Amino acid sequence: MYSKEQIIAKILSEKSNVIQQEKGSVYAPANIALCKYWGKRDSTLNLPMTPSLSISLAQKGSHFAFEVLDEEKDYIKLNGQAIDEQHDFYQRLFSFINLFRQNNEPRLNIDIISTVPIAAGLASSASGFASVVKGLNILYGWQLSCSALSVLARLGSGSACRSLWDGFVEWQHGSRDDGMDSLGVPLNIVWPQLRIGLLLASSDKKSISSREAMAITKQTSPLYTLWPEQVATDLAMIKSALAEKDFIALGEASERNAIAMHATMLKATPVISYSTAKTAAWMQQVWQLRQDNLPVYFTQDAGPNLKLLFLEEDTADILQLFPNIEIVQPFS
Ligand code: DP6
Repeated sequence: MYSKEQIIAKILSEKSNVIQQEKGSVYAPANIALCKYWGKRDSTLNLPMTPSLSISLAQKGSHFAFEVLDEEKDYIKLNGQAIDEQHDFYQRLFSFINLFRQNNEPRLNIDIISTVPIAAGLASSASGFASVVKGLNILYGWQLSCSALSVLARLGSGSACRSLWDGFVEWQHGSRDDGMDSLGVPLNIVWPQLRIGLLLASSDKKSISSREAMAITKQTSPLYTLWPEQVATDLAMIKSALAEKDFIALGEASERNAIAMHATMLKATPVISYSTAKTAAWMQQVWQLRQDNLPVYFTQDAGPNLKLLFLEEDTADILQLFPNIEIVQPFS
């Protein structure tokens, strides 16, 4: 078992931690998994049980600006609002940043603008941690590759390792104990007609974090033993659907994978359910629309929101059926 500090030392062995740039700003997109990451083989390093595959959300993500301060404390603003030290977000962010600083120096003034709702199952932590490592890469002038940054981002939050790139990214789960082979790998596939629709049931904080929920699922759900096999089947189908631009196959496999993940949670003790009546109603609506020959599919993460998958040609219909939907063009 390795600690985060050991992994960081391996990656940064030759790098100095002298400040190279006092100020900077970076951006990382959020990502939505089409084949989900659910369950860890190492919860310190966020090493997953299985591979996963995501699509990045282009302009929906985290803008991270930093400035080195000559002061005794750090400051952080999230979407323009100052966050105090007691706040979960402050603590999670700085306990991560402190892995890279010595004696909490340099002190920083950080400004994060998230264009996705925080902690509502819309992958804000993924873009958040990916943007932090990109920011530190500039602050310290590490000049690390996106692959190395992906390993570092994973230490903050697993799904963050997929947010270093646009487009489709596979997180190869790897087999090494130090996790050096567990990182995002971008797929060289562009699908300009693909659309993701965000249906927001609630932007409230989740009832249970995905971190806690996946640990409980892995420990207690009798269905969890089937999960790796499910992922293997769905991932193979998703990859071949992407290679062939077969939207129906992509939708079928992605939706099935999300349903399987939530079914596995429903069999956990205590039961874990992220869906609300609104989530269930939207699912019914999507299934009915397919019966009526509209090719639309959904996926759902650790929250009540749904993300719809559809093609550009059906945009007008989708907008009419879901007036409050927010449509993302991943390849815009
Ligand atoms: C349902 O990456 O948030 O969105 O590694 O504990 O930080 P930690 O978990 P996190 O889990 C994401 C779970 C998911 C599926 C996915 O994005 O693959």
